[in-house]
Amino acid sequence: MLEVSSQESDHFQLLLQRLGKDGVNYGDIPVHSALVDNVKRSMDHLDKRIAVISIIQEGKGVDAGERLMIKLQSFQDKQGGIILKKILDEEVDHIRVGYKWFKKICE
Ligand SMILES: [Fe+2]
Repeated sequence: MLEVSSQESDHFQLLLQRLGKDGVNYGDIPVHSALVDNVKRSMDHLDKRIAVISIIQEGKGVDAGERLMIKLQSFQDKQGGIILKKILDEEVDHIRVGYKWFKKICE
C-alpha cells in the first residue's frame, strides 16, 4: 500500500509539473469532486472504502485513460502522453492491490 501511495504522489507531481508548463497551477481548473465525495461516503467501513475508491474509482480512471490519450495525441502533447501512460500502467496495479485487500478483508 505504501508503494501505491508513493506512486499517487508521483502522479500528482508529474501532472502538476506538466500543467505548470502551460501556466496552469493546482486549483486553476474546475474538476469533478467524485473522489472526495466517495471518500466521504465510504468513511464508515474499510471494505466499502477499498471497493469504492481502490477498485471502482481507480477503474473508472483507467477506463477514461484511452479517451484522454487520444485527446493528448490530437494536441501532439508527447510529454503528456508519456506521463499518462506511466499513470495508467501504475493505476492498473493499484486496482490489483485494492482487489487483493478487498478479498482479504471480506474473508
Ligand atoms: Fe491509483
